[in-house]
Amino acid sequence: MNNILFPVLSILSDGKFHSGEKMSGQLNVSRSSVWVAVENAGQIGVKIFSVRGKGYKLTHPIQLLDKNKIKLSLGEISSRVNIQVLDVVNSTNSYLLKESAKNIPHASCIAANIQTHGKGRRGRHWQSALGESLTFSYLWRFNLGPASLSGLSLTIGIALIRSLKTIGINDALVKWPNDILIFNDNSYKKIAGILIELQGDSVGQSAAIIGVGINLNLSKNQLNKIDQPAIDINQCLGNEVNPNEFLGILLNNLTEVLSIFQDTQFSSFKDEWISYHAYQDKPVKLILGNNEVVEGRVSNISPEGSLVIQTDKGERSFTSGEISIKEFI
Ligand code: BTN
Repeated sequence: MNNILFPVLSILSDGKFHSGEKMSGQLNVSRSSVWVAVENAGQIGVKIFSVRGKGYKLTHPIQLLDKNKIKLSLGEISSRVNIQVLDVVNSTNSYLLKESAKNIPHASCIAANIQTHGKGRRGRHWQSALGESLTFSYLWRFNLGPASLSGLSLTIGIALIRSLKTIGINDALVKWPNDILIFNDNSYKKIAGILIELQGDSVGQSAAIIGVGINLNLSKNQLNKIDQPAIDINQCLGNEVNPNEFLGILLNNLTEVLSIFQDTQFSSFKDEWISYHAYQDKPVKLILGNNEVVEGRVSNISPEGSLVIQTDKGERSFTSGEISIKEFI
């Protein structure tokens, strides 16, 4: 990637016009380097307008992720969390999966301004464009084998709901196992998703790469690319959230729930999780990996995080599957 591009974007982040000449002076590079950077922006999905006599401009102001600002928002836990901000990466999860073997410390967060190949669950793509989505992965090493981590993704949902409450979004709900939804305009819309990838041996050590994507301010273009109803923080709050401050809030909540999870796993969080569950006691349809369809009413969540459905044939428990509410089918 062009190494002038992000310094240029940083100048343009105020959403105002900046002349190529002035930027080249600010960055101490040639005007043609600025021009090449602007030309390259399109390759990573960033639109920069140019108007003769005025210069260059983004469609609207953006707040880039900044390690120092995130650290400030982390407050007390700042010395215990390792932060790295990448300008552009294929996927923060893939980056950590590759790098964690090289001794990346426990409690490391990799956040990206742009992900080019963000991964969703079940092989889906997580759509993210500059400033439209907060994307990061948190590496947490457990003294637990992967088999003990079954309720981890549900627990992460709790940290997300608590963080949304802190910024004033009090009506966020969880959809099993770990989507975060908002009920808006008569339907459930997704505001955030979680993708956990595990590395570890069966004996008693594992590393979880906890990937989180949260919609901040989706453009029409991005909304059209998302294959399910979606909503963003801007729409919920009526104003923007500062992504650096919000990431600090998220990492505080994640660190807190993960520390408790190490000792008690999901059992400490079960009641709180059920209180946020969008489909609790509701009629649902669950599509299993083998395409079997199970219909029934959600009756419980097990202490390990399995979904319990009351079916015609009695209660059945599931560890995976794609759930939808029957009223909205
Ligand atoms: C889902 O809802 O399907 C899960 C979405 C997870 C997206 C995040 S964005 C940061 C991290 N890196 C990825 O490639 N995916 C996760």
